[in-house]
Amino acid sequence: MIIDIKVLQTAAYLFASILFILSLGGLSSQESAKRGVIYGMAGMFIAIASTVAGLGEGVKAEAYMYIGVAIGVASLIGIVVARKVEMTGMPQLVAILHSFVGLAAVLVGYGSYMDHMAHITPEELQEAPHIIHLIEVFIGVFIGMITFVGSIIAWGKLDGKIRSKPLLIPGRHAINGLMVVACFVLCYFFCNAESIEDGMMYLYIMTAISTYIGFMMVMAIGGADMPVVVSMLNSYSGWAAAAAGFMLGNDLLIVTGALVGSSGAILSIIMCKAMNRSFISVISGGFGDAPVASGEREIVGEVTATTHSEVAELLKEANNIVIVPGYGMAVAKAQYPIHDLVQRLQKQGKKVCFAIHPVAGRLPGHMNVLLAEANVSYDIVLEMDEVNDDLPETDVVMVVGANDIVNPGALEDKSSPIYGMPVIEAWNAKQVIVMKRSMATGYAGVQNPLFFKDNTDMLYGDAKDSIDKINAAINEAALV
Ligand code: TAP
Repeated sequence: MIIDIKVLQTAAYLFASILFILSLGGLSSQESAKRGVIYGMAGMFIAIASTVAGLGEGVKAEAYMYIGVAIGVASLIGIVVARKVEMTGMPQLVAILHSFVGLAAVLVGYGSYMDHMAHITPEELQEAPHIIHLIEVFIGVFIGMITFVGSIIAWGKLDGKIRSKPLLIPGRHAINGLMVVACFVLCYFFCNAESIEDGMMYLYIMTAISTYIGFMMVMAIGGADMPVVVSMLNSYSGWAAAAAGFMLGNDLLIVTGALVGSSGAILSIIMCKAMNRSFISVISGGFGDAPVASGEREIVGEVTATTHSEVAELLKEANNIVIVPGYGMAVAKAQYPIHDLVQRLQKQGKKVCFAIHPVAGRLPGHMNVLLAEANVSYDIVLEMDEVNDDLPETDVVMVVGANDIVNPGALEDKSSPIYGMPVIEAWNAKQVIVMKRSMATGYAGVQNPLFFKDNTDMLYGDAKDSIDKINAAINEAALV
């Protein structure tokens, strides 16, 4: 019995799609995340193998060689980059990978249009399949270019190469709206273009406009709002891939793109809720608005510093301890000594838990990944909402390399760029210890009134170094 290669390919695509769905399911919790990654890798292997195997009879042997070389080189680059990248560099890597998906959609769009126009007859120019294909090309290039440029700007902002302050040009919403209308008009002309030269001209103009939209959309976003942009670009990259799938007539790419697009959109909605922002204004690049009032509020109070032995003494007396990790924990790689500290305190009968803010660090789930890496038990890693109400009964809150996520200005100061974002209300605890190296601001670039409160003491220094010294002080006290 001879089985048609196309039937086999369809079955393989279906199997790969199921693996991708299982992969997303697996990635939804720390316990099953590794399994999720393995499903994803297996799905991608089947997807690539079945696509290459089903290329068809007319394909020359050298085409397979080019594909093999491209896959080999790309795999090598992927392995080297993934092995080299630090956990703190992950957000930038994710942003730049999104940009590749956008660029791929743009290139597929141009290639697909040129190929299509080279083979079309004058009669077919008015037929529906031709128009539908051109609309797919137009939308694919449009979303792809916005994703490509937006992701590069996001990479620059996350890497500190582009200022994180929002760039707000007057009338930008009206300009963006006009640009989108112009693209609709261009799409009409593009679909009715009779020559490839005319069509290419409309495509070039639209590419320039979408470059502008992608640039302005992310430039207008303030530093502290970047988490939503990262998840939004993740979603756009999925839609760009789905658009490429339509252009290439590849069902698996459509399904996979739609999976990434919709899961990214769900993540954006979750992020919006966490940041108290409106989803609609986010997707239109509009929420990095200027603060209601300008100028930083004067902070009253005095900053007091403490020492490692004083903190060890404080922990000895405490019964309830909450640890709030932030980006500085990732920089210092302090999660390992923190795990040791937690075990020590638990052995002494103290109640210890972690309070995780949804945008702590630089990636969704950043802190959860780091704590899981250090084998911290999941059941003491709680979300902000689970902890905030209990903070007034908490003896000590240890803020480890966090800043914006514990800033009371987010609730009180309308002039603050993070105003409206829910935060971990550490100041409600009996005593707060903040571990960081200096009085420098966090990612949003605003000073933190928490540091000036009467019940806050600063423990200056690298977070890992500080926790190591606290561990040593606790050990010494136990030996005495
Ligand atoms: P941040 O506000 O960025 O504050 C981190 C603090 O860690 C800094 O103030 C820094 O102060 C301190 N630090 C750095 N290295 C340290 C080290 N080796 N030891 C001790 N402290 C160190 O972090 P956060 O509180 O986690 O808030 C996250 C911010 O990033 C939010 O504004 C969020 O919107 C934004 N963001 C988040 C994401 C996602 S998806 N999570 C993505 C993009 C942006 P010193 O220099 O004084 O030590």
